[in-house]
Amino acid sequence: MKIVIINGPNLNLLGSREPSVYGNQTFDIYYEALKSEFPSVEFDYFQSNIEGELIDHIQKEGFSCDGILLNAAAYTHTSVGIGDAIKAIDTPVVEIHISNTFSREDFRHKSYITPGAKGIIVGFGLDSYRLGVESFLKS
Ligand code: DQA
Repeated sequence: MKIVIINGPNLNLLGSREPSVYGNQTFDIYYEALKSEFPSVEFDYFQSNIEGELIDHIQKEGFSCDGILLNAAAYTHTSVGIGDAIKAIDTPVVEIHISNTFSREDFRHKSYITPGAKGIIVGFGLDSYRLGVESFLKS
């Protein structure tokens, strides 16, 4: 099984970015632990701060891998283009958020990703990604 993790803008700063919201751990360290927890899964990781690059990567991986974990970050709440991209591909997408977006500002309650997603995992810190992996392994 191949699972691709795609992270959007500012998630390259995890570990130092608003630690009270997103925690202290860098994604690189978390990603290494995640890979060792699921040795039978083939992982790929991509992060970009640029909307078009995220769409290009969704299109590149979205016809061959088994699952995509997508944290579109701020683009979740603005991007018709990313929402359309996940509807255009074959691979199921699970929408991931580290924080509980529904307990935050109103503008974070709207997602352009959810209508095209298989499901959403929201608010479990970085563990949201592990739960996303489990969701693909169990379906
Ligand atoms: C986020 C929530 C978004 O509202 C925010 O813009 C992010 C991260 C999360 O993982 O909690 O950058 O997607």
